[in-house]
Parts: sequence; structure tokens; C-alpha cells
Amino acid sequence: MKSPEGFRQEALARLRTEIPGAAIIAASGGIDSTVAALLTQEAIGERSHALFVDTGLLRAGEVERVSAFFEVSELSFTVIDASDRFFAALKGVVDPEEKRRRIGATFIRLFEEHAQRWQTDRLVQGTIAPDWIESGGALRDTIKTHHNVGGIPADSDLKLVEPLRDLYKDEVRELARHLGVPDADRQPFPGPGLAVRVHGAVTPERVARARAANAVVEAEVDRAIAEGTLKRPWQYFAVLLPVRTVGVMGDNRVHGEAVSIRVVDSIDAMTASAVSLPPEVLRRIAERITRELRGDVTRVLYDVTDKPPATIEWE
Ligand code: XMP
Repeated sequence: MKSPEGFRQEALARLRTEIPGAAIIAASGGIDSTVAALLTQEAIGERSHALFVDTGLLRAGEVERVSAFFEVSELSFTVIDASDRFFAALKGVVDPEEKRRRIGATFIRLFEEHAQRWQTDRLVQGTIAPDWIESGGALRDTIKTHHNVGGIPADSDLKLVEPLRDLYKDEVRELARHLGVPDADRQPFPGPGLAVRVHGAVTPERVARARAANAVVEAEVDRAIAEGTLKRPWQYFAVLLPVRTVGVMGDNRVHGEAVSIRVVDSIDAMTASAVSLPPEVLRRIAERITRELRGDVTRVLYDVTDKPPATIEWE
């Protein structure tokens, strides 16, 4: 990207050619799809309509936060409550790639239904370069199938419009700041949501556990940032592991699950380094998670692995 304004002008011209009529936009509330939505709205005005899907796999407070932002941005949007469909699609699935494929397919089927309603076959997505690079292809290994790359069924009539396809995250953030998006440095959140952070079966109960643990990690890291004891990391979240581990509650033995905390720094997510969290922050997170998820989570671990060799998400 030479300059954000140069990119914006070129993207607007391209969008106007690629979208002859109406378009729906897959808007997750993240930076990438938000920037794609704002550019599309600017390019084609009221012929664009953003769809925000509540998959049941979102973080605490996400629906409210995203809806409030879309309203302020005067985006035409609909919130689709599809949690039942996502949980049904994920029932009994433990393989991470299969989870991603099913989530991707469920998204696309929903978008197809809404495309009909808006009388269009154009779907705008905020796909960026690492999404398709890591999703593999003829010459590359599949690190993971991004939900917005690998999940599109061959029989779909939808035509993808991807204005940010060649950009990296740091460039999208620069563009977001240029477009006046608030909080352009907020941490990325994967499209398949908490499903990639709940290892093993993705049930509403286990997702609720991961969501509660994640809210604690976010709150305590945000607090450390506000107190000046920590620089804002690239990403900080909780992962629910598929292990049972013994704990004590009062005089009783309990058998709960384990949570790992993952905090990393990165420039573009292609590589990342594990952040050394202050010990008192780690201890407070562990104490709160085991107290607030009493008996359900009995152990909290800290992941100290860089990318490579690990990836950021555990999958
Ligand atoms: P990994 O785990 O490969 O993740 O090191 C790199 C970055 O990508 C985010 N991520 C996703 N973002 N759709 C997205 O939009 C996805 O399917 C997806 N999977 C991972 C991840 O959170 C990290 O920032």
C-alpha cells in the first residue's frame, strides 16, 4: 500500500466496477471487515447492506459493541442470530479443520439466503493476505483454513468481492485510522470465533466457559495496560483445553477443565512472540478464572511459545 488515500481511491473505483447492483457485506465487527464495509458503503451507498452474524461463538458484549459502532457509522446492517445453526453444524466435531469448514459453510448458506433477499450475488469480505496465504493452495501447505477462504462450497453462486485481499494487518490498521475507525489497534478476533479456542467438543456450555475465561483475561490485561504496567499486546485471550484435571473445592475433590492464557506480540501475525506478563497479572487472572468458573475450570496455564514454531491460535 503506497498511501492510505491512494489505496482508498483505487479501491472505490474497483468496487464500483466489481459491484454493478447491490452487495451484501460479511461484517464481523473486526477491523478487516469493518474497513471493507466502510469502503463498500462509500463506493455504492445504499446498495450495500452489512450482515453481522451472531454465531453464538462471539466474545462477551460483542453483539452490543459491534451494533453500536455500525449505528454510529450509519452502516445499513442486520444482526442475524444464528447460534442454533452454528451449534448444530458443530455438533460432535472435534477436528479443527472440520470445525472451520463447517463454520465457513454455515456462513455461506446464511449469506446465500440473505443475498436472495437483497437480490444480489455479490458478497464483500474483509479477506486479507495472510488469510489466503495460510489457507494454502496449489503451491502452499494449509496452515489452517480461514473461515472466509476454505469454507466456500463449489456450488455457491455468490461472487466474492475482496477489496483488502493484498493488504497485511498493519496496512489495514493504517487504512482504518485514515477512515476514522475508532480503536483501529484493537486485537484481532478470528472469524470462527471461540470455536477455535474451545478444543474438543464445541457445546454451548463449553463456549460459555471459554467466553467467561476470555473476559477475565481481557479485563485484567486491559487493567494492566491502563495502570501502565504493560504495553498493549497484539492479542490476549483464553483457550479451553480438552483435558480434565483434579482440583480441590473446600474439602471436596473436583474434576474440572484447564484453560491456557495466550498473550503475544506481532506486527502482521505471520510471526509472533509470547509476551512476559507481570507475575501479579498472571496470578490475578488464574485466581479469578478458577473462582468465577468454580469447579468447571481447575487449572490455568500460560503459553510461552513463539510463532513459529506454534501458531497464535491453538486450534
Ligand atoms: P495463527 O493462529 O495462524 O493466526 O497464528 C494468525 C492470526 O489470524 C487470526 N485468525 C483468523 N482471522 N479468520 C480471521 O479473520 C480466521 O479464520 C482466523 N484464524 C486465525 C488469529 O487470531 C491471529 O491473529
